[in-house]
Amino acid sequence: MRYLPLFCLFLILQSCAAPADEAKQALDLSFDLGQVVAKADAQYTKTLETLGDTSRIPRNARPDGTWNLVKKGSWVSGFYPGVLWHLYALTGDEKWKTAGEAELLKLDSVQFFGYDHDIGFRIFNSFGSALRFTKDSAAYKQVILDAAETLEGRFRPVTGVIRSWDWHDQWQYPVIIDNMMNLELLFWAAAETGDKEMYNVAIAHAEQTMKHHFREDFSTYHVLDYDTLSGAVREKVTFQGYADQSMWARGQTWAIYGFTLTARETGREDFLNQARAAADIFLKRLPEDGVPYWDFDAPNIPDAPKDASAAAIAASALLELSQLVPSEAESSRYQTAATDLLNALATPEYLAELPQQGILLHSTGHLPGNSEIDEHIIYADYYFLEALLRLRELQNQ
Ligand code: GLY
Repeated sequence: MRYLPLFCLFLILQSCAAPADEAKQALDLSFDLGQVVAKADAQYTKTLETLGDTSRIPRNARPDGTWNLVKKGSWVSGFYPGVLWHLYALTGDEKWKTAGEAELLKLDSVQFFGYDHDIGFRIFNSFGSALRFTKDSAAYKQVILDAAETLEGRFRPVTGVIRSWDWHDQWQYPVIIDNMMNLELLFWAAAETGDKEMYNVAIAHAEQTMKHHFREDFSTYHVLDYDTLSGAVREKVTFQGYADQSMWARGQTWAIYGFTLTARETGREDFLNQARAAADIFLKRLPEDGVPYWDFDAPNIPDAPKDASAAAIAASALLELSQLVPSEAESSRYQTAATDLLNALATPEYLAELPQQGILLHSTGHLPGNSEIDEHIIYADYYFLEALLRLRELQNQ
């Protein structure tokens, strides 16, 4: 009997400790994060050595493992600088900062390229990353502010959305789900300057996307075409997915990430719920080995190519989503889902070895266009490193 108070105290302490332990466990990895960062460091050191003096930017792997290079106008031109800045954040090694600064110079005047919505990827992932990890450059800020104005210029009130592409004759006003990612640029600039109109443009785009871009099960369409006169949706189709009604893997992860960042920036529950719903259908439909096929409805599953980039984007987004949901249990669920994705990627099956440069194998860029199928692509590495950084920050909290 005299031990009863002690026993009660033990029970109280245990019930307090349990959720915290659960949360920590949700961040456990089956691989050594330091080792994977060291490997990424070695792979990209090789890239620095072999790239030489070029104005071009790495995009994807050639068969011999060296990089296929693109011009600064490509939609992917922000990812390689972003990778270098993430390596700087992960390792603290000044060589990555120097390399990151040099890459930014290659993007001269890109902030004024207004021919598509991808200016967000080009500028926010490059200059935005530089700003995030150095915090001190007025010059970087100005570039990002100019880019935000360029992106805002693609908004038309009649449709209530930002036009994605100008180069498809069959559509009047195409808007792709990927466009949600680029709202981050607008939210950042609006917060920096207090520009309410810019903020409202981002909100309008997110609201319209929430209304029209999802099916009943919260899978997403890839492309919506809006009528430029009435603003009505003319058609819901795909460009990079298997079929108009299929769930294209990367598109679904752009939705998860895009609505998560929109929930973070606005504090709005409807956006948070949209992020949750997009995440839940993605997680529910993942194959057993944890890495999505390029399209969840591809007819030749299990022989269809995978898309490691979708896994990396989802992992990073889910870590952020875990910080926005109110309950400890839900937070742990999204963290476990994120670490499961990272655990699946950080295996010999997915980690590249020299002479393949870069980090992740098995991404698929545009299968219907017969381009970048089952290979190493730069944006997979960008989001993989971002996820590792987010995970390390959460582990250290
Ligand atoms: N934004 C183009 C893609 O995801 O392939």
